Amino acid sequence: MEVGPVGLLPTSCSKTDNRTMTTGEKPTQSTGLPADPVVQRNFYKEWVSSQGIPVVEDYFIEDVNSLELKPWVQKGGKGIFLNLIGTGDCNDAYICEIPPGKSLNAERHMYEEMIFILKGNGATTVWIDGSAKQTFEWQEGSLFSPPLNTWHQLHNGRGDAPARFLAVTSAPLVINLYHNLDFVFNNPFVFRDRYQTRTDFFSAEGRMYPARIWESNFIPNAANFRLLEWKERGGRSSNVRFELAENTMGAHVSEFPVATYKKAHRHGPGAHIIILSGKGYSLMWPDGAEKMRFDWKPGSMVVPPEMWWHQHFNPGTIPARYLALRWGSKKYQFQLAQNEEMEKDRREGGHQIEYEDEDPEVKQWFEQALASNRAGG
Ligand SMILES: [Fe+2]
Repeated sequence: MEVGPVGLLPTSCSKTDNRTMTTGEKPTQSTGLPADPVVQRNFYKEWVSSQGIPVVEDYFIEDVNSLELKPWVQKGGKGIFLNLIGTGDCNDAYICEIPPGKSLNAERHMYEEMIFILKGNGATTVWIDGSAKQTFEWQEGSLFSPPLNTWHQLHNGRGDAPARFLAVTSAPLVINLYHNLDFVFNNPFVFRDRYQTRTDFFSAEGRMYPARIWESNFIPNAANFRLLEWKERGGRSSNVRFELAENTMGAHVSEFPVATYKKAHRHGPGAHIIILSGKGYSLMWPDGAEKMRFDWKPGSMVVPPEMWWHQHFNPGTIPARYLALRWGSKKYQFQLAQNEEMEKDRREGGHQIEYEDEDPEVKQWFEQALASNRAGG
């Protein structure tokens, strides 16, 4: 009796629907089914390697400003992909440089993209087919998001130095979901709910909502944006959340003073944390496992993996401020963010460890770091 590889195919399309595997019988290749095993293609990774630029895969990057970039033909500049382990392929990042006096190639895509300017100044032009273009200027520290699937082109405003930016996108999720690059990069659909051609789209005054939410399509400088008190996370921290361009992804800036540290918490994957000021360290660990420590400074980036505890410490001499680019818009719910009850005590079912419940070593290490800094170490 010939027996096909029952179980490898859904029964609805298997040619062996009415057969069952008999103990001791081995599948053969004489059933007319393909001989090759099913291959799970990762369209996103295939697209990344087709771009011909380096890829960093790690938990942590010490300094995004000093990474070496390579020519990126599709983009018209230089770049490097940052596929940090903590993203779980739900989002990604890249660094790009615009050559002095040049513009990148215009592009549009079906994934969201938040752009943070690391160095330089310049402008971005945004448009949709058949409508007038509009251009807005940016500088170091600016944060914005070309609305979903709008054409956009970035220009370097200086002729004597490159402009460098960091982008966090939802490309892995979108490219792997549709696995059709023509759909992702050459799609005429216009999201009228996300972009309107009014000339003040990027310059209008933002709106502050309760829960420290600032909605605006352009943040001039995240490094000096005025923050609001955020008692729940401890460490006398302050924070503001940004809602940009009707995105499902979100961003926030947090700051905490000298000689303080925040409470440990955990949430979904893909929160890219970029240090804007201060020197300190973060701990990350899966529940019940050993803690990993990452020492940071301005330009460092870390992405805590899905539901790993993480905790930020400032034993330095100036306030520590960071920008987080991640899933978790407050306007649009998305399961991947898993950020509900992040401020609730884990003893009550939440995802935050109160100071009195943390491992004693956490405070001991912090006191050692403070003492070391005081001694000039
Ligand atoms: Fe976090």
